[in-house]
Amino acid sequence: MNFVRQVFTGCRLLERCCGVVPPSGPNDPILVICGEAPGRTEDLVGEPFAGRSGEVLDDALHLIQVPRRQIRILNVLGCAPPYDRDPRPDEIKACRTAWIQAEIDQHKNVPWVLLGATAIKAIGGASHGVRNNIWASWVSPDGLRVHAVYHPAAILRGMSRTDVLAD
Ligand code: URA
Repeated sequence: MNFVRQVFTGCRLLERCCGVVPPSGPNDPILVICGEAPGRTEDLVGEPFAGRSGEVLDDALHLIQVPRRQIRILNVLGCAPPYDRDPRPDEIKACRTAWIQAEIDQHKNVPWVLLGATAIKAIGGASHGVRNNIWASWVSPDGLRVHAVYHPAAILRGMSRTDVLAD
């Protein structure tokens, strides 16, 4: 699939970032981890969770002894929003049409870990993101087994701990 052209349709974020950050990891993962959107580092490097949030994620994965290469890691948005602002509903919708729905359809048989409010709402279909759903597990409207956890950025802000995330 032409990733860039597909994502570009219906969304102008690509005009203001370095490029689409595609999912990392295998096509047959044991787990899917979904964050919000690439940050500045991810935009430059072209890989999800390559910056400080990624270090927290790597620490959590190290604690449970699961290597990144077994996990598919992606974001609700493929492009970094300017100034790290929150994704907008129209951008989330455009990305879903372009490629997220295909990821959902391809990886229905493995658990999805949703990092933070945006993923909890966009993928899990649950409102009141973190406040009402943190540490909960349920079946999403698409039939995914989803698990809601804090975003690593929240751990960097001291709202939870890496070992709790790993648990
Ligand atoms: N935050 C996210 O949600 N995703 C990334 O890839 C990096 C930071």
